[in-house]
Amino acid sequence: MKNLLMVLVFLVMAACGNSLTDKEKQEYTTKGNEIAQASFKALSEKLIEQMKMGGPAQAIPFCNVQAMPISQQLSEQYDVTIKRTSDKWRNPINKPSERELEIINNYHKLISKKHEITPIVEMDSNNNKHYYAPILLKANCLACHGKVDEFVSVKTDSIIKSLYPNDRAIGYNEGDLRGIWSITFKK
Ligand code: HEC
Repeated sequence: MKNLLMVLVFLVMAACGNSLTDKEKQEYTTKGNEIAQASFKALSEKLIEQMKMGGPAQAIPFCNVQAMPISQQLSEQYDVTIKRTSDKWRNPINKPSERELEIINNYHKLISKKHEITPIVEMDSNNNKHYYAPILLKANCLACHGKVDEFVSVKTDSIIKSLYPNDRAIGYNEGDLRGIWSITFKK
């Protein structure tokens, strides 16, 4: 009887064993880091180019139209789904899922305790693998995500409001947690 119970417990654990080995975690972390870096590079190169050409007045409408297609193209290239999300999102399309919000809130807690924050890799109940990593605010993000009238000009603020009437992604300081990368692997 006891043996049968042990076998049953083992079977149940194996069936819903949604855990990754350390080796798998390491592999997905490496892949996730690579994809997040490539995405950041692609987005920021275009953004810097547009900022040089016409400041926020040109770069904001560009992000509004191009941020999604750039992410989508990279998603196809790496055969993953790439998402940037935040607890204070600008575009409602980027609103976090329940799990993403939990991850963001955990990062906030760790930061407030001055702990290090590192990427997270996990498997969900459908066996999909996920990579999450923090996005911190840098000095060159302030023109569009900083405090109004300090870093974000009143004109920039009105352009943001006209495209994103419910914008929440403003008032940040350098070094703040702006959001996370959320990458879902298809295999
Ligand atoms: C020229 C203005 C501008 C600058 C500079 C800028 N952003 Fe944004 N950011 C935007 C806009 C506009 C969106 C909404 C894009 C969309 O519609 O998908 C956005 C969206 C985001 C999002 C997605 C979540 C959300 O709120 O919708 C993240 C994360 C983000 N920005 C981080 C950053 C970081 C980090 C930097 C600096 C490296 C930065 N941004 C610099 C304008 C800017």
